[in-house]
Amino acid sequence: MSESPIMDILAKYPPEPEAVISVLQDIQEKFRYLPRDVLTEVSRELNVPLSRVLSLATFYKAFSLKPKGRNAFHVCLGTACHVRGAQLVLEKLERELGLASGETSADLNYSLDAVRCVGCCGLAPVVMVGEEVHGKITQTKVPGLLKKYQK
Ligand code: FES
Repeated sequence: MSESPIMDILAKYPPEPEAVISVLQDIQEKFRYLPRDVLTEVSRELNVPLSRVLSLATFYKAFSLKPKGRNAFHVCLGTACHVRGAQLVLEKLERELGLASGETSADLNYSLDAVRCVGCCGLAPVVMVGEEVHGKITQTKVPGLLKKYQK
């Protein structure tokens, strides 16, 4: 039998239902999404119904059931960002990356998502790439921003 890809994660927590969120967070960090077969394993190992694991996985925005890019672009469309032109920034990123919001490139280099307020409204419009915050982004700044994340 092959070794579980999440053995290291499961070993960190007691095998109890209370550990499920922490385990999912670690899996999201490791794989950048929550693979379906891994969720089945979480369900079995922590004794939580798979339906419950799936509902948690879809409820929290931090979790994704689809693979995300190594460079995960999140465009804030919260109110402060929206009134300062965030929608135009999102559209520019869609054109430049050739991705619609919610999509990941086939080579897994990029993903693009729209999100609600990321908590730095003073910097609106805000684009996050992974954990990095980029403020006051306009359409004209998008190519320069992308350049930073091109290999
Ligand atoms: S609305 Fe965009 S950071 Fe708050």
